[in-house]
Amino acid sequence: MRDVIVLGVGMTKFGELWNRSLRDIYVEAALSAIENAGVDHIDSMYVGAMSSGLFVQQEHLGAVLADYLGVNPIPATRVESACASGGAAFRQAYLEVASGASDIVLASGVEKMTDGADVTEVLATAADQEYEAFHGITFPGLYALIANAHMHQFKTTREQLAQVAVKNHHNGAKNPNAQFRSEVTLEQVMNSTMVADPLRLLDCSPVSDGAAAVIVASTDVARKLKKQIIRVKASAQASDTIALHNRRELTTLNAVSKAAEQAYRMAGMKPSDVDFAEVHDCFTIAEIVVSEDLGFFQKGCGGKAVAEGKTAIEGGVIPINTSGGLKSKGHPVGATGIAQIIELYEQLTGRAGERQVKDASVGLAQNMGGSGASCVIHILEGL
Ligand code: COA
Repeated sequence: MRDVIVLGVGMTKFGELWNRSLRDIYVEAALSAIENAGVDHIDSMYVGAMSSGLFVQQEHLGAVLADYLGVNPIPATRVESACASGGAAFRQAYLEVASGASDIVLASGVEKMTDGADVTEVLATAADQEYEAFHGITFPGLYALIANAHMHQFKTTREQLAQVAVKNHHNGAKNPNAQFRSEVTLEQVMNSTMVADPLRLLDCSPVSDGAAAVIVASTDVARKLKKQIIRVKASAQASDTIALHNRRELTTLNAVSKAAEQAYRMAGMKPSDVDFAEVHDCFTIAEIVVSEDLGFFQKGCGGKAVAEGKTAIEGGVIPINTSGGLKSKGHPVGATGIAQIIELYEQLTGRAGERQVKDASVGLAQNMGGSGASCVIHILEGL
């Protein structure tokens, strides 16, 4: 396998982009990545999208978006893995360049969620239809079960959940592309509207529109273009039971720990070698569980760690979700995994502005689908 380099990135602002169509926002992100990378062509493209058919009645996204981007007749493929679609699209692009089949590939993601679909119902199609969705459970409901189990088993507190939202809004306030550029206080989170006990409005990622794109390429291309070398050190993916009731326990996400194990092995690294991470905080409890399953903290200690500031940019030991995470930056599901890679790129190239992590040289991105039935992890290193 060849080394693979992230050459350039581009994204739209995330939010409620009512006056723009899916193809418009996609083309903006893709063109901006191509321009940023400085390439004059792409060999192929992958688009992560969870449910464009149900959100905006448009399937066949690979072909539609290649057409509007003006890159026909290159191969263009849509990749779907629920909320991990973006991470899975990046992995396909990585594999295509690593295998030597192509030299320059566009990895991208897009979702348009605010155009009138019943978002809760569409998102629930990523859960087990027969055993979960049919009986009325939603994603906030599934993560509420995980939160209750974690609180019961490890004495994780309501305040610790809220601290995740406070931190991520604090970071997102410094991100020009974030949907919510506002700080929130502990009291605001604790008193926000109840959604699924114990999760409140400010524990949830929002409903968002957005697109994100990156160009990956071989080392030769990067050297010719005299680009800074941001190398993909590991790409890993794992799966787990789709229904929560089939898991041995609710408080460990096996797909996350399995993918993490593979990723660390491939990179020749351990959790303490990672300088910062973007993780899938679709709900505050998800960030806590994932920070444990990635090996940053012992099982059961993730809540305490966030409350003690260990995941903060300022003074933290492993800053998590410097972009604001899904919570504050927004969560246009198919675009999220690519936006995580973009934050890694911005940090590793020293372009993260007020969010910059000092001396950042290794970043990890963890993207997952549904209640953790699929997980994709990438580790990037800046040289
Ligand atoms: N965080 C912060 N603010 C939020 C928010 C969020 N997650 N969701 C909505 N808001 C704000 C809105 O901007 C709006 O503010 P305004 O009154 O100042 O304009 C207000 O809260 C009400 O917004 P509304 O759109 O009516 O909220 P809603 O009740 O329809 O939706 C949720 C709230 C939490 C149910 C929705 O955001 C949601 O379903 N989130 C989870 C998405 C999800 O499951 N993703 C997949 C994960 S696996």
